[in-house]
Amino acid sequence: MDSNILAKIREDFPILETEINGYPLVYLDNAATTLKPKYVIDRLSKHYLYETSNIHRGVHFLSQQATTYFEEVRDKVKNYLHGNSTWETIFTKGTTGAINFVAQSFGSLLESGDEVIISQMEHHSNIVPWQMLRDRKSIVLKVAQMDERGVLDLEHLESLITEKTKLVSITYLSNALGTINPVDKIVEIAHSKNIPVLIDAAQAIAHITIDVKKLDIDFIAFSAHKMFGPTGVGVLYAKKQLLEKMPPIDGGGDMIASVRFDKTIYNTIPYRFEAGTPDIAGVIALGAAIDYINSIGLKNIEEYEHELLQYGTQKLSEIKNLRVVGTSPDKSSVISFVLNGIHPHDVGSLLDSKGIAVRTGHHCAQPVMEFFKIPATTRASISFYNTKTDIDRLVDGILYVQSIFE
Ligand code: ALA
Repeated sequence: MDSNILAKIREDFPILETEINGYPLVYLDNAATTLKPKYVIDRLSKHYLYETSNIHRGVHFLSQQATTYFEEVRDKVKNYLHGNSTWETIFTKGTTGAINFVAQSFGSLLESGDEVIISQMEHHSNIVPWQMLRDRKSIVLKVAQMDERGVLDLEHLESLITEKTKLVSITYLSNALGTINPVDKIVEIAHSKNIPVLIDAAQAIAHITIDVKKLDIDFIAFSAHKMFGPTGVGVLYAKKQLLEKMPPIDGGGDMIASVRFDKTIYNTIPYRFEAGTPDIAGVIALGAAIDYINSIGLKNIEEYEHELLQYGTQKLSEIKNLRVVGTSPDKSSVISFVLNGIHPHDVGSLLDSKGIAVRTGHHCAQPVMEFFKIPATTRASISFYNTKTDIDRLVDGILYVQSIFE
């Protein structure tokens, strides 16, 4: 990316001017949550300052205006994911909310002995909801393996499929390893047996162009906060044909067409899945986040982040006694690593003392840690406002950590 453009982009994120422990902030924890540009924050506060009103509930100007701005975001999501009227946008509290909704609603249609396939590299939010369903309905949860690089074993995944398999639910981009999964092949395998596919796009959403039409994804879940939007808002984008068969999970206002004590008639899709007053400002700000990404261009972002990832991987692999965890040839945005003899939490604290923010721990993916037989990793996760200088500061920070433990 041109350095003038990068400098301009960085100005959009006032937090990048912050000093931490006397050092200019290096923010490399984008997989936990991305920073928010002023544009998105301004949109959020504009709603509260000048537009506050509930949606779908008033004939007055403010309510109608808020409804229009809120509803427009469904189309922004559709365009961002290259969807069409075959799919519908449902607003949730986040990726976790979206997957839990599918596990409960679609899950209620499953019978004892039916199977759901996930993978060994899933985030807990694509494991636990299915375990809860397993405990509720005696379904069978199967786990597709990965190899020591963190590459999904497609043959193993295919071998798990039986006539009882009802869903394949896989991450697009591993938040712990950075592996990009071959969603096209996963969908092809599953669809050849008429099995729908859910894609957890929490990590992918701000880093990879997703074309649901081309990939023919059935359900896709993501969070606003990992794409420069607010926390507490997310999306399930799903095929209407599947949603039409699925019952609502939450009952309440807005999800109904009529209520009598003897019978309630539900609203149409997507409203029947959105009971109660939603995070109106948050959804509108998600729309602003999509506009912001589009103004830079996701293709430009992908290209630049690829360059940063390669630069970072190269620089880190030159450090002695450092092992990168997750070495798939197809990777994006995440470099997880371990240092011989130094616990990641110590690494994280010492990097923090130099103003460098990374995440240490299991990254809500304990089975990944178990697979690699490590308690935790240190994870540097990048975004388009990061620079090669950030990577250089990380490298210096790691050398400093190693010097302390010498
Ligand atoms: N799932 C988020 C992460 O990877 C919070 O850090």
